[in-house]
Amino acid sequence: MDRIRITGGNELNGTISISGAKNAALPLMTAALLTDDTLILDNVPRLADVAQLQRILGNHGVDIMTSGKRPGDSEYQGQTLHISAKTIIDTTAPYELVSKMRASFWVIAPLIARMGEAKVSLPGGCAIGTRPVDLLIMALEKLGAAIQIDGGYVVCKAPKGLKGATIDFPKVTVSGTHVALMAATLAKGTTVIENAAREPEVVDVADCLLKMGAKISGAGTPRIVVEGVNRLNGTRHTVLPDRIETGTYAMAVAMTGGDVQLAGARPELLQSALDVLVQAGAVITPNNEGVRVARNGAGLSAVKVSTAPFPGFPTDLQAQLMALMTRAKGSSLITETIFENRFMHVQELARFGARISLDGETATIEGTDRLRGAPVMATDLRASVSLVIAGLAAEGETMVNRIYHLDRGFERLEEKLSACGADIERISG
Ligand code: EPZ
Repeated sequence: MDRIRITGGNELNGTISISGAKNAALPLMTAALLTDDTLILDNVPRLADVAQLQRILGNHGVDIMTSGKRPGDSEYQGQTLHISAKTIIDTTAPYELVSKMRASFWVIAPLIARMGEAKVSLPGGCAIGTRPVDLLIMALEKLGAAIQIDGGYVVCKAPKGLKGATIDFPKVTVSGTHVALMAATLAKGTTVIENAAREPEVVDVADCLLKMGAKISGAGTPRIVVEGVNRLNGTRHTVLPDRIETGTYAMAVAMTGGDVQLAGARPELLQSALDVLVQAGAVITPNNEGVRVARNGAGLSAVKVSTAPFPGFPTDLQAQLMALMTRAKGSSLITETIFENRFMHVQELARFGARISLDGETATIEGTDRLRGAPVMATDLRASVSLVIAGLAAEGETMVNRIYHLDRGFERLEEKLSACGADIERISG
């Protein structure tokens, strides 16, 4: 199994290109099931989760062609996928495939909307909590689907098609909003999604669906209105830049010191996180090519942060912020309000000498001047990268094990960091 070795202490200086957003690419690829035309997606990141969804779509009969680079493309351009769901040969998404990645459950929405039936394995819990799908099922039932749970599968039927309805989510859910939005595009009549997630990835999917001929208004607000249409067409769409990758590298620079241009980043997609970084002592300068992050000389200040749905501080940056705060002056408070068990990195950060105590959903971090390198491992993607951030600032050697988690969501992480001066390498086998 591959590992990452880091010798800490180097500043980061240079440019890091930000990849396309994993959490937009996955629902965008899923949306290709809504049409028998070809959907072309540009700037798709090369990630294990993307490859896994390609396998899942392939199982439904979807053809995916990956095109090579074109003249003028930058070295770091993401891949282009030509996705054609002309004929859906199978409306079942089996346990073996869905259990590997929760977002694959979302195929249920386009399948029921276009085919009138879907049988999709329940995804189960994961390292960051139980993560139920009750609200996704509620949304599809509101749209008129008959749903039964049978043998670990959600069996969904709507032989006469879905019907527009009001779906009022009792809590903000990204997955619920994606599912409701995709399903509603082909339902008869009007659907109103109340308390919708406002995440930029939802807006990106809605933008693509609009180009496919869907009638949607209000994406990016808590109230999305969808007028169903009979069919959707193909289109070409560029995946938006990854705000979580952007925030992660911004925190890495704040941690090590230095000056890095995050090329292609859109600062407005992570304003709350950038505000926290400014409070902590980083200098953030948005510019035409992205955002520049620097920290020179002065130490880090402690912060008090709660995670929240967009536009609040993202749960997907909570672990990285915690790593950063291990070196701040004073005590920081980080409260996780989205997932009940997203503190798996705490015990691993302690191996570096970090001082963190947990009380329910709040972590108190007492900053320390010195972290010491250590062998570590993590059980989810963002927790893993928080260990990389700690390793970059720790004295001596850190070995991050189980890095398949990192490969799910960070494209060429070690290349991007070493190009900016980090002493980091992948050790294969
Ligand atoms: C998406 O997960 C992201 N995944 C997550 O990123 C991210 O952490 C999360 O949104 C929150 O921003 C993808 O986009 C692929 P939710 P999702 O539905 O959609 C509860 C990463 O590291 N809930 O917004 O599954 C749920 O348990 C990943 O890239 C229900 O109770 O998250 C949670 O407490 C990890 N019932 C809250 O809602 C439901 O039916 C928000 O979950 C659905 C969700």
